Order: sequence, then C-alpha cells, then structure tokens
Amino acid sequence: MQFQNDLLLRAAKGEKVERTPVWLMRQAGRILPEYRAVRESVSGFIELAQTPELAAEVTIQPVDLLGVDAAIIFSDILVIPEAMGLPYEMVEKRGPWFPNTVSSAADLKNLRVADGANDLSYVIKAIEITKKELNGRVPLIGFAGAPWTIFAYMVEGSGSKTFSKARAMLYREPKLSHQLLQMITDSTINYLKAQIKAGADLVQIFDSWAGILGPEQYDEFSLQYIAQICDAIQEVPKTVFAKGAFFAREAMGKLNCDTIGLDWNMGIAESRKMIGADKTLQGNLDPAALYGNPEQVHKATQNMMEQFKGSRHIANLGHGVYPDIDPEMVKVFIQSVKDFQ
Ligand code: CP3
Repeated sequence: MQFQNDLLLRAAKGEKVERTPVWLMRQAGRILPEYRAVRESVSGFIELAQTPELAAEVTIQPVDLLGVDAAIIFSDILVIPEAMGLPYEMVEKRGPWFPNTVSSAADLKNLRVADGANDLSYVIKAIEITKKELNGRVPLIGFAGAPWTIFAYMVEGSGSKTFSKARAMLYREPKLSHQLLQMITDSTINYLKAQIKAGADLVQIFDSWAGILGPEQYDEFSLQYIAQICDAIQEVPKTVFAKGAFFAREAMGKLNCDTIGLDWNMGIAESRKMIGADKTLQGNLDPAALYGNPEQVHKATQNMMEQFKGSRHIANLGHGVYPDIDPEMVKVFIQSVKDFQ
C-alpha cells in the first residue's frame, strides 16, 4: 500500500519521522456536529455501527475535518460480547447495557468463540469501504477491547464505578473467570486478524478498566491475555493502552507490541524509564486540557511535546476526547503538535 502519509506507521515502528504523528482516541463520533447529523439519520449508535457505508463515512470525517494523521474504524469494543452471544444495547445518555450477563458456568455454555469475519462482517465491510475511500491518505487503525475490560462489561452488565460484580467473580470463581477470559481472547485474536485482512494498518487494544485491578491480579487476569493477543498478531504494528495501569509499565515494556499508550496520570520521563527505549509511547495530554482557551491548549500541548522530545512518540490525549469538547480546541491541539519543532 502506497500512503501519502504514513507517519503513524513509521513512528510506531521506531523509524525516522519528519514530525510527530497525531490522532485522538474517540475522534470518530462524540465531538463533531457532522457526526451527529449522520447519527440522527438512523435509529441509534448500533444501527450506525452496523451500516458499513455510514460507519466508513464517520470514520473519515476526522481526517477531512480535523487533519489527524490516522483514521480509527467506527465501531465499539462491545461488538465482541455480542458476537460471542451476549448482545448489548446503547442507552441514550447512559451508555452500554446488557440484558443478559455472565455469572455461572451455565451462562458460559451459552457463549461461543466469535469468528471475526462472519460474526462481525459489518465491521469488516466497513473497513474495506473505508480503505477504499481513504485511498492511502492516512493509515486506518483497527481495535478491540482487552479481555479484562470486555469481561468486566459481560459480568457487570453495564458501566460501573467499581465493577464489583466483575471483581467479585475473580475472587469467587477464578477458574470460570479464566475460562471466560480465554474465550474472549480467542475471539479477539480472530477478530483482529479479520480486521487486518480487510485492511487495518495498525491495531490498538483498549484496556479501559485496567486501573481497577491490583498489580498481582492485573498480571493474572489481564496482562497474560494481552500478551497472548500480541504474540498472535504479527502482521501489523500493535498498540496497548491500559488506562490506570501505572503499576504494570515495566511489564508492558516486555510485551510483544510496538507502542504503549500512556494516560495523563503517568509521568512521561518516568514511564520512558520503566518501559524502555525500544517502544513508541502514545499520549498523553489530559483530555480536560482542551477545555482551556486556544493559548492554554497550545501551551499545554507544547509542554507535553517537549517532554516526549527525542524519543519515539505518537501524540494523542491520555484518554478519549470528551464529548463536550469544542472541535476548534481539538484543531488547536493538532496544529500545535504539527508545528512543534
Ligand atoms: O475512537 C473512535 O472514535 C472509534 C470508535 C470507538 C467507539 N468506542 C465509538 C462509540 C472506540 C475506539 C470505542 C472504544 C470504547 N467503547 C471503549 C474503550 C475506550 C475508552 O474510552 O476507554 C469503551 C470503554 C467503550 C464502551 C462504550 N461505548 C461506552 C462506555 C459508551 C458510552 C459512553 C460514550 O463513550 O459515549 C459507548 C458508546 C459509544 N462508542 C459512542 C461512540 C461514538 C457514543 C454512542 C452514540 O453516538 O450515541
């Protein structure tokens, strides 16, 4: 594939770049009025995600309107539980909700390992259309949730501050927990391989709820499954973003992946020391910094860039962009990265 702009891929692999590439987690959807217009033409998020032409359209919007150096396919991490036999709903203003959850061995019997290409053919189709329409302008990022984060939703049934049902399961039913985590891992490997076959140029694993586990539990119930996924995917560069897993940075430095995402609580110099020189770091401006005025956003971005200077870096926020951020401030962030010398 000939790219007009392959900064993201070169930065991920640690090759020379003219400038640092920049994109934003959750850039597709959430902030753009143009997204909301498309979203209002259908019944809701799920219909939009399952209509490949529309999913491709909103995937490309941030490339056209914001000037980011990568597109990320419009979908959700929760398509995996659905493909395994546990459907979800997106409740307006409240987020994901599962009518059925997993709490016993009997529940596990009703689930299957998902086949990425068949069970998630709508995502695969959206990737194919997006690749065609992008026509090499920028790389396309595919993604999946980390097994622990997906487990947390499948057991809890919705978002939660404590995910106490999911964490209780780790203590009460460790064997069952491992069985479910392994099924999610196998499904995720199938799914990411299908995304790559369809054209995804890099894949990112989101462990959004990493930070609610202790260090030993994180090793046992999350990291080893992420490691399996990293070992199974050899075709494209891989990024692991484990939000709140400051205690696992040294271990993440040993994963078979190219890039580690940092959240904004993680110090940059200290993370570099713990992770080592041979990984690219991605991040990590506080998403709330974009509530500032243009001058403040510019300064905060420059300050972040300064701290990453001289080592492998992909600029991003420390978590997904917040829904009520002014797209103009996102543009200031992006331009400040591009102007940084
Ligand atoms: O990055 C992108 O823009 C690509 C698309 C994408 C979505 N979700 C679309 C979406 C990605 C990468 C995700 C990942 C995701 N989904 C994560 C991991 C990243 C993170 O933020 O920690 C998680 C935990 C989820 C689960 C999820 N999906 C929640 C909690 C919610 C409700 C709150 C919210 O984020 O808006 C969703 C819904 C969702 N996923 C929307 C979008 C555009 C909003 C739905 C709508 O348009 O009504």
